[in-house]
This record gives sequence, structure tokens and C-alpha cells, in this order.
Amino acid sequence: MTSSTRPSEPANDERQVALITGGSRGIGRAIAQMLSDQGFAVVINYAGNESAAKETVEAIEASGGCAEAIQADIADAEAVARLFACTFERFGRLDVVVNSAGMMQMAEMTTDNVEVLDRTLATNLRGSWLVLAKAAETLTAGGRIIALTSSVIGKSFPGYGAYIASKAGVEGLVRVLANELRGCEITVNAVAPGPVATELFFNGKSEETVQKIAAMSPLERLGKPEEIAGAVAFLAGPQGAWINGQILRANGGMV
Ligand SMILES: NC(=O)c1ccc[n+]([C@@H]2O[C@H](COP(=O)([O-])OP(=O)(O)OC[C@H]3O[C@@H](n4cnc5c(N)ncnc54)[C@H](OP(=O)(O)O)[C@@H]3O)[C@@H](O)[C@H]2O)c1
Repeated sequence: MTSSTRPSEPANDERQVALITGGSRGIGRAIAQMLSDQGFAVVINYAGNESAAKETVEAIEASGGCAEAIQADIADAEAVARLFACTFERFGRLDVVVNSAGMMQMAEMTTDNVEVLDRTLATNLRGSWLVLAKAAETLTAGGRIIALTSSVIGKSFPGYGAYIASKAGVEGLVRVLANELRGCEITVNAVAPGPVATELFFNGKSEETVQKIAAMSPLERLGKPEEIAGAVAFLAGPQGAWINGQILRANGGMV
């Protein structure tokens, strides 16, 4: 990777800027709020739910932060380019990129279900490729790139094939990109949550299934979005400077 496509220096603005894909809901929203609380201006990316994005921006502004919502489908290369361009237009710099946007659809491995694999890979793997690549082309020395993967990779539950394939792929990309950015002073890591109480997790599960999964970790409960945000904020902050090419499993000990 050459540094020729990157701006030479961030603009001389004191407030650091973080872009959080999927920052409008769930874990992404908690990450945006925590990074804002730590002094970052935040860009809240979302796919289609504009009102959730607005709510997140309003909550951050109400707590004294600075936020901007930008719609973009991360699986679309032009949309991702526009997302980064709009971020620069609005804030003039970018320091941290968190790729939290993702989807999960249960489907057993049957030939009929291959379209679930295609859809999942498009958002979770192709989308991660595009966001991580654009971040690598954009960030300057001191930059941080953080992807969200999943601890369910270590469990191999039936029905999770498409999701696990996509997230295992992202963990591969994280390690490769960390090596491709040799000499750039930019770190690339992943946070791999266990089950966390968000719509993505609850969707389509009975109360009994939720309780069964919640009991799997030695802490015997679901994670909270804020607990995942804490791991991301650590990697994004000064104390995370020496962590690179790692997958941080934040799962209460489930795996
Ligand atoms: N919750 C868990 O138990 C869990 C466990 C392990 C890993 N994870 C991972 O953590 C990340 C966040 O999950 P979550 O639970 O917070 O999910 P969530 O509550 O369903 O929120 C998903 C977010 O991603 C956005 N999004 C979805 N597809 C997108 C696309 N193509 N382009 C741009 N934005 C898109 C959504 O925007 P709209 O609202 O506009 O659609 C929303 O902001 C995901 O990568 C997920 O795989 C979650």
C-alpha cells in the first residue's frame, strides 16, 4: 500500500473525527455515543432507517457532542466513496473508522439458501472490504481502523453458516490490511462481540432461545452495546496504540 492517495496531514482542527458505519442503531449507536463522550466529532452512517439516525444525532447533540448522519449502503462502492467525501467536506479530517454496519439472517446450508449467503456476503464481507479499503486510503499516521466481527465464529451453531462465513472473512481482511499498512502508523483491529441485546440478535428468536444463548457465557447474560463500545473506544484511544492486527473477543467468556 502506498500512502500517495492519502492527504498528507489532517486539517488543523483540534477535534478528532470518527466515522461509524451502522452508527444509527444497536452497537454502532453506543460506539458513536462513547466516542463522542470522549471528544470525537462523529459521523453516523446508516442504510435506510433515517429516523433512527436522526434520533442518534439528536441524542449525541443533546449530550454536548457534534454528529452528522450520512446515508450510504456499505456494499456500494460509489456510496462508500461519497460517505468518506461527505465526511471530509463536513469535518475536514478523519481519524478513526469503525465498521459496525452488518446484517444476520439465519439459514441452514441448503442449495435453496445460497441467496442468503450472497446477501450476507454483500453487506458483511464486501461492505467491510470497501469500508476498510477506503479507510486505509484515507487515514493518516495515528489513524485507527476497527471492524466488528463475531464470537459466534467459535461456536459454529447450526443456521449461522452465511453469517459466520462473512465474519470469518472479515477477520482475515483485518489481519491482511494490518500487514499491508506496514510503515503507515495506522492500526487495524476487530472487536468480536458475543451475543448483545440489539435488534440484530433478538430478531426471529423465541424468549426461550434468547435465555439459552444468554446463559452460555460464564457471566450468564447478554452483553450490552455499551460494553462493546468500551472495547472499541479502547482500540480507538491512546491506550490502544500498540494493538494491531488483533481480534478482541468481547463476549463475557462465551468462547
Ligand atoms: N448484536 C449481536 O449480538 C452481535 C454479536 C456479534 C457481532 N455483532 C456485529 O456487530 C455489528 C452491529 O450489530 P448490531 O447488533 O448493532 O446490529 P443492528 O442493531 O441491527 O444495527 C445495524 C446497523 O447497521 C446498519 N446497516 C445494516 N446494513 C447496512 C448497509 N448495507 N450499509 C450501511 N449500514 C447498514 C443499520 O442501518 P439501518 O438502520 O439504516 O438499516 C444499523 O445502523 C454488526 O456487524 C454485527 O454483525 C452483533
